[in-house]
Amino acid sequence: MTNLSLRTKLLLSFWIIIALCSLLPGFYVLHSLPPETTGGAPLRHELIFLLAVCFGASIIFAVMLTRGLLRSISCITESARIIGDGNLTRRISPPPNNELKQVAEAINWMAENLHQQIQTVNRQNETLEAVLDAMWDGVLILDRSGKVLKINRSMREIQPNIETMLGRKPLEAIHSPEFQSVCQEVLTLDEKHSKSLTIDLRERLFEVNVVRATRTPDLGAVAVFHDISEQRKLEKMRRDFVANVSHELRTPLTSVKGYTETLLADEPPPPEMARNFLGVILRNANHMAKMVDDLLSLSRLEAASDPTKKPIRPDGALATAWEACSSLADSKNVRLERKFPERDVQVMANPDQLVRIFRNLLENALKFGPRDSSITVLAEVVDDKARFTILDKGPGIPKKDQPRVFERFYSVQKYRSNENGSTGLGLAICRRIVHNHGGDIWLESPPKTPHESGGSSGTAFLFTMPLAT
Ligand SMILES: Nc1ncnc2c1ncn2[C@@H]1O[C@H](COP(=O)(O)OP(=O)(O)OP(=O)(O)O)[C@@H](O)[C@H]1O
Ligand SMILES: [Mg+2]
Repeated sequence: MTNLSLRTKLLLSFWIIIALCSLLPGFYVLHSLPPETTGGAPLRHELIFLLAVCFGASIIFAVMLTRGLLRSISCITESARIIGDGNLTRRISPPPNNELKQVAEAINWMAENLHQQIQTVNRQNETLEAVLDAMWDGVLILDRSGKVLKINRSMREIQPNIETMLGRKPLEAIHSPEFQSVCQEVLTLDEKHSKSLTIDLRERLFEVNVVRATRTPDLGAVAVFHDISEQRKLEKMRRDFVANVSHELRTPLTSVKGYTETLLADEPPPPEMARNFLGVILRNANHMAKMVDDLLSLSRLEAASDPTKKPIRPDGALATAWEACSSLADSKNVRLERKFPERDVQVMANPDQLVRIFRNLLENALKFGPRDSSITVLAEVVDDKARFTILDKGPGIPKKDQPRVFERFYSVQKYRSNENGSTGLGLAICRRIVHNHGGDIWLESPPKTPHESGGSSGTAFLFTMPLAT
């Protein structure tokens, strides 16, 4: 009996109830009437016929009732299955039957509640995802068993293809045994403790902080990858800079100190020698003053990267710069050859800074070029820029030194003399000014542009400046 389907059970129940209700009174009447009051056989036959009809009708009625009920139940079952499959917007239209109507309403209410809860969870997930993806730092989340559970956008940039490592060990995602052991160590901790380490990943340095996640039972630990390559580079640059400045200042300072001590000695040198010593002290003091000035100029140029510009004629700036170098040019008997275009060319530049570029480059050409020679300055218009070439006939710059001459304090000659006030900052200043103007500066040694005299040695410094429109 218990194995019978709901349909059969309902059918039987309805039928038994209906049959009992309709047949029992009939049988009772049939048996309780005395034969003489029944009017004989015809009446008995009529009653039996009536009972048979009632019996048949009870079956039909039971089938109809069962069908209607089952249809409502199967409709509710089907909808509940669809809702269970995830279609939480599906609702059941309530059947007329009161109890089934309550069941349908309860399922609808449950689906509505579930829908809202899932929407809330989805929204929270999206917010979390957006926050994680907006982070500059890479984030890698581990589950309780120490497998990779989630990663953010930055993490995908730090380690491409890491997405394929979901569900794997940290070591497979980040090829660092130290990272793996730190993760394992943190996962054994009960409280919200963290451990840090530094990892070298694809030529970038990361400070990684692994924190035990205790709030949610599914989470194990969260590792945050912070890129410190730039910071370390800047720290190194600062250290190198301080070391360079100290080194550059030490030589003139030692000289000043030595000569001053000699002058102040118990037995002072003869007046002529003392005068010479004072001359050396003055030269070294001037050198240090120039170095401090140049360093200040450089740091000012770095701080104010957008100079005030106006349209100016570059030949005017060149004339001013050449004027400033005239004593050195005269002493070496060097001529200036200018090759400027016929038409009036104007550049958009800060006048003082343009003069400074020409002056630094002309000074170099004079310092390193031979006596009784010439320096050529060429101006051309290339695309939307003016291009200037300062060409000398000096010894040139070896290929291995060429990429480094624009660095601060770099000198091709290992022992830079301070006779002519060289501090090694001239080209660094030129490069900063040119870049601040949106131009470019580079050198060719030997020059691609040949000398008029036909010589192929020497150096050409080229820079571009935006044209004034
Ligand atoms: N025209 C050139 N010919 C040969 N070498 C050059 C030339 N210009 C620059 N150099 C090399 O590049 C180095 C850096 O030049 P930079 O102008 O920065 O410094 P400097 O001339 O030594 O000193 P400063 O310009 O600060 O007085 C020079 O020391 C020199 O070795
Ligand atoms: Mg120079």
